[in-house]
Amino acid sequence: MSSGVSLENNMPINVCLNIIIFYYLAFPGDPVIQKLDEQRYHYIQGPDGVSHLVDVWVKVSDISEAARYNPDRQNVYHLFTRDNPTVSQPILMGNEGLIGLTNYNARRRTIVLLHGWLESVTADMNTVLVPAFLAAEDLNVIVVDWSGGAGTINYAAAVANTVTSGQSVARFISWLNTATGAVPTQYHILGHSLGAHQAGIIGRNLGGSIAYVTGLDAAFPGWVNNGNRLRPSDAVYTEVIHTNAGVLGYVATLGDVDFYPNGGSDMPGCNSNECDHNRSFHYMGESLRTGGFTGRRCATYLGAMTGNCFLLGNLRMGGLVPKTGSTGIFWLQTNASPPFSRG
Ligand SMILES: *[C@@H]1O[C@H](CO)[C@@H](O)[C@H](O)[C@H]1NC(C)=O
Repeated sequence: MSSGVSLENNMPINVCLNIIIFYYLAFPGDPVIQKLDEQRYHYIQGPDGVSHLVDVWVKVSDISEAARYNPDRQNVYHLFTRDNPTVSQPILMGNEGLIGLTNYNARRRTIVLLHGWLESVTADMNTVLVPAFLAAEDLNVIVVDWSGGAGTINYAAAVANTVTSGQSVARFISWLNTATGAVPTQYHILGHSLGAHQAGIIGRNLGGSIAYVTGLDAAFPGWVNNGNRLRPSDAVYTEVIHTNAGVLGYVATLGDVDFYPNGGSDMPGCNSNECDHNRSFHYMGESLRTGGFTGRRCATYLGAMTGNCFLLGNLRMGGLVPKTGSTGIFWLQTNASPPFSRG
């Protein structure tokens, strides 16, 4: 059985012994069972503005905490439409009768929004994107509150909950479609940070049939060695907007199309990683309202991070309509404050 201690071959034996003794004193009987990244500890600035030192190696205790989260029971689905743009109506999985009492319309497209770690329905992502979508088109917006899984300070458990919540949201969408006649091609699923990977997991559990998935600065810590991360086949069209690559956001490409605005990690007008990380949904919101954000094609994501992008074929970032069939890596520059797009 693995002790969870990784030992360098060239370490003196007394150092090794000290590490092992320390480990068993500090965490008796809590072995590591999965190393999500090579680097074990990360400082992650939460939405509360506080830096949390998190352990991205999964221990038995994390799994037992994650097992207590039941997304089928704890997730809450909030419907917003043009008839109720600010006060949500609940949709309860398994309760067909309730749908008819809401403003949900199965002939319209449906947007599904997934927040990130330590967030909830009130996440800035939702306060930015709900009105932007409703202004752009007459559609259903369903905000998923998975704070029962995202709300733990134990980051490794929140990563595990990202997966089980995604499976549960996929069951919810299957149920809603059966109950109303809606189809996967009517859906656009967007997630921020942990929610971006969850958007992919939802699509994967629906066989990749969802029309459009957008990953808004998909989370980096805990996903490097994690096979559950967002991937191109999760939807008919997948797009990722990288704004804090290498810190809170994933560095390498994840979608059919990956945008690295301003190089993907330091956004003009920001002086914190949290601000950079949040710019992804602000750019998305503006793209829904006014378009713009024309990207230049790059050969590699390292090229995109340094603005070395001279290939033919521009593509617009974000927007209401999936750019189905498009692939590649793109770079663009933004302004430091709204309007962010430079055209
Ligand atoms: C980023 O978004 C989070 C979540 O909504 C919010 O709590 C936080 O204040 C935002 N931070 C910045 C710097 O914009």
